[in-house]
Order: sequence, then C-alpha cells, then structure tokens
Amino acid sequence: MSVAPVLARLDQDIDAALARLFDLLRIPSISTDPAYKADCDRAADWLVADLASMGFDASKRPTPGHPMVVAHYDAPGPHVLFYGHYDVQPVDPLELWDRDPFDPQIQDTPKGQVIRGRGTSDDKGQLMTFVEACRAWIAETGSLPCKVTIFLEGEEESGSPSLVPYMKENAEELTADVALICDTTLFADTVPAITTQLRGLLGEEITVTGPSKDLHSGMFGGVAMNPARVLAKIIAALHDGTGRVTVPGFYDGVPELSPELKAQWDGLGFDADRFLGDVGLSIPAGEAGRSPLEMIWSQPTCEVNGIWGGYTGEGFKTVLPSKAHAKISFRLVGSQDPHKLRESFRDYVTAMVPADCQISFKGHGNSPASVMETSHPVFEKSRQALTEEWGVEAAFIGSGGSIPIAGYFKTYLGMDSALIGFGREDDALHSPNEKYDLECFQKGTRSWARILGEMGS
Ligand code: BES
Ligand code: MN
Ligand code: MN
Repeated sequence: MSVAPVLARLDQDIDAALARLFDLLRIPSISTDPAYKADCDRAADWLVADLASMGFDASKRPTPGHPMVVAHYDAPGPHVLFYGHYDVQPVDPLELWDRDPFDPQIQDTPKGQVIRGRGTSDDKGQLMTFVEACRAWIAETGSLPCKVTIFLEGEEESGSPSLVPYMKENAEELTADVALICDTTLFADTVPAITTQLRGLLGEEITVTGPSKDLHSGMFGGVAMNPARVLAKIIAALHDGTGRVTVPGFYDGVPELSPELKAQWDGLGFDADRFLGDVGLSIPAGEAGRSPLEMIWSQPTCEVNGIWGGYTGEGFKTVLPSKAHAKISFRLVGSQDPHKLRESFRDYVTAMVPADCQISFKGHGNSPASVMETSHPVFEKSRQALTEEWGVEAAFIGSGGSIPIAGYFKTYLGMDSALIGFGREDDALHSPNEKYDLECFQKGTRSWARILGEMGS
C-alpha cells in the first residue's frame, strides 16, 4: 500500500490534529506533584478515548501511581510497541513563562511557527505524532500496515516507580518484535536521527547538619562549625582540576570511544560553538582533551542540581544555619553500576564530614546506561523512511539524556528499541516556555507514517 495518500491526509488534517494535541496539552498532568493526580488520570482517560475512537482496543490500567494506557490494534505483519509518556514536568518558575503553560498557542518566532506550552515537546507533542500517523493510516486504508501496541506511561518525569513491576506483570501483553520510542531529539534542526545510546542516571540528596538549630552568626560564628562550609567543601572536591570526577571507582565500566564511533561522530559536523553560544557560553567544561559530543554522549558526569540552606530570601539575615542541602545527579555510561556508585559516593562524602557534623542521604532514581543493538530491520527501515521525509541522511546519534525504559525493554521483554524523536535542542524541555516546532510536529507525523509503511513492507 502506498504511503502517499496517507501523507496527503496528514497534511490536510493538520488543523484537527493540532486541536486534538491542544486538548491533551490543556490537561496539567504533572506527575511529581500529588495535587495533579486527578489531571494525570484525566490525561490517561483522554488518550484511551482518542485511541478507542480510532479502533484501538484501548484501556486505562491502574498502578500504585498514575495509570498506564495500553492499546492494541491487530493487523498482519510485524508487531511494534510504541512508548511515550503523557505526564509533564512542573512549571515553576511560573513567572518566567510568557503565558499560561497549560493554555497552548501557536506562536510566530524568527525560526518559524512553534507550539508553546508545557509538554509540547516532552512528550505529548511527540507521542501524538505517532498517534496521528496511525489515525491517518486507518482512515485512508481501513487498517494499519503492521500490528501496533501503544503503551503510554504517566510517571516518566517522576522516575517511573510503577514501570518495572507493571512490565513484569504484563510481560506477555507488552512484548512485541521491537519497541519504538518518541521522546528524543533530531540531530540538528533539519537532520533526523535515531538515538542508539542513552546515559543512565543516579540521583542523591545530601543533608549536612551542624548545630542543632539555626544560630546568630555573630554570637556563634567562628566557634560553631557551619554546615554550608562543609557542604561547599564536599561539592568542590567532587571534580579535580582537569574536570574528572574524583569519587573512587567512578570510571569503572566507562569505555573509551571506539575509533569507528569516534570517526562517525566526528563526521556529524556538530557545531559546538553554536551549541554553547545558544546558551551564552563558549568553553566546554568537561574533561580536557575530549570532544563536546563525547562529553554529552559517552562520558559520565556529576552535577549539582540544587543547593540550599540558611537564609535565601530577600534582604539579609546573619544566620549560621543548622543544615545545608544539595541534590546531586550522575549521568552514567557503559557498564557503570548505579548501586555501586551510590555506595562509593556515600562513603567518599561521609569521610569528608568533620567529627562534629552529621550527614544523611536520600537516594533518588537510578538506571544504568543503555546502548542499542541496531541489527533489527527496524533501524534500517526507519533510517530510510526518515531520510526520505527530511531529504537528509538520518544520523545514528547518542543522547546525554536518560530514558530508563529503553534498557528495561531489553532486560525484561528482550526487545530492542528504536528511539526516534523530532525535538530540537532549543525546545526548553523542563524549562519555562517549552515549545515544539510546528514543522517538527508535522514532519514527525509524516515520518511515522513512512516508518509504519516500511514496517509493513
Ligand atoms: N525526554 C527526556 C529525555 C531526553 C531529553 C532524551 C533530551 C533526549 C534528549 C525525558 O523525559 C527526561 O526528561 N528524562 C529525565 C530522566 C527521568 C528519569 C526523570 C532526564 O534525562 O533527566
Ligand atoms: Mn520525555
Ligand atoms: Mn522529561
């Protein structure tokens, strides 16, 4: 069956597709904040209704957290499982948004039209590119070119606590020939990509306690140990002068980039000056001697994501705080073991705390890095389909971000994942004024229509 009429229908129906996406974007499905629990549920209901209206056997599945959406469409041919997430990040700081994050709008910008709003790029806009491609295939031909299961999660932005148990319990229902995931970016504004390696993630929150209560820094300063000083010293000690992380054993399991991959990445022509220039910087901050792409895609990191303690409000207060806190995350590569690293980090940091202070730890998410096996035919078929749609050779790339499910699909269901997304690096994911380019949405729907067509051929 030719894909041409399906593409034509997608183009014709773009306004209706946008109206549907806007309905979904208006639901504030912030998974990490319990105040939005009912909204997460409503987003799941909306998706179930939409998929059912297309002929999918769709249902909402309860979990101890937010529900999963599972939908099946039976058709001859190989079986693909599509994954996306309907939850979004919190919107704070709200004052930095130029409009209501949950009142989406098409805006004109110097780089073209964009869809503005929370979740436009991460991940509602992206997941709807696949749903719209399915809708157009069914409307145009009465069926899909292959068997499709759609699996949507509502807890991705809060570490997917229900995901692994759910996958284990429903392994048979969720296992397909291959998984497709739409939650990544293009390589460059108009260069499509298949992401074949993702970094893992480990989160640690530390609290250093000094005196038993906040003190007057004139009466006690100089004699009472200040926990903020201790915390600052710990954080300063996490990297050496060359940018390497100093936690013992940190580099165990970090592979050197193979010469083949290095050559392939060098050939991508990544513009590091522009990449940094777009965020007001000019000097790569990673380990000396490594290329910027290596720093993002294949080197591990240790970053402070938040640091607080004492008085941080308006004006000034001469306080000697009782506690100082930091949230620290590690991006992992190769076979770095998040559990071992957690222990090693805690031991290392604890040894730096003076006798009169205490330190406590709270563990957050952890997932290992994943590298995809790209021999499944879906990779070549997708590469062809993307190249045809975008008119530029699709690139196989890495990503600095983390999508733990790609590894879980392999571990628990034995499935490879093709990560294909249409985000751009200036989409402001997790930030104020998140956007998704209209062109990315439209070409995204067309790309999936082509990929589905290839899967059926
Ligand atoms: N879609 C992102 C991951 C991503 C971002 C992939 C940019 C490629 C490029 C995903 O929703 C995300 O934000 N993941 C979190 C981890 C998660 C466990 C909270 C991340 O990478 O920080
Ligand atoms: Mn995402
Ligand atoms: Mn995200």
